[in-house]
Amino acid sequence: MTRGLHEWGAWGTWQGLVYLTFSALALGSACDRGESSYRAARALLDRHCLGCHSERPSVKAFPIAPGGVRFDTPADMKKYAERIRVRTAVDRNMPLLNKTGMTDDERETLARWVLAGAPLAP
Ligand code: HEC
Repeated sequence: MTRGLHEWGAWGTWQGLVYLTFSALALGSACDRGESSYRAARALLDRHCLGCHSERPSVKAFPIAPGGVRFDTPADMKKYAERIRVRTAVDRNMPLLNKTGMTDDERETLARWVLAGAPLAP
């Protein structure tokens, strides 16, 4: 009886250790993935936003950029950085209807770029 309890105790400790180890690993890799470069942000805007928010939108429904909001140049990106973060990662209602299928990872990448101060290089 005593022995049985003791064994269960050891089992619990072992499980706890395994759990802690895996949590630490998961956390570590989440941090490593932290891409926040200008290049990553540029590519994401090109793929998911420029269809509408550009000097010459390719989406037929928007012959001119909605609200005059364009992300063509680095200066435009900087100017709208905080709004880009809010609409993609907080409100999550851009891209409009998510036609281009922007993923959660991509939203986080954009948000990280903004929170890193929206660097314009590299
Ligand atoms: C299919 C067209 C379309 C696409 C693609 C699109 N938007 Fe928009 N966007 C709109 C429309 C329409 C509005 C104006 C209505 C509104 O604000 O919801 C707008 C407004 C905005 C505004 C200005 C209003 C504000 O909240 O400051 C921002 C910023 C914005 N979008 C960000 C983005 C970002 C970032 C992407 C890409 C991840 C994106 N949009 C993709 C159509 C689009």
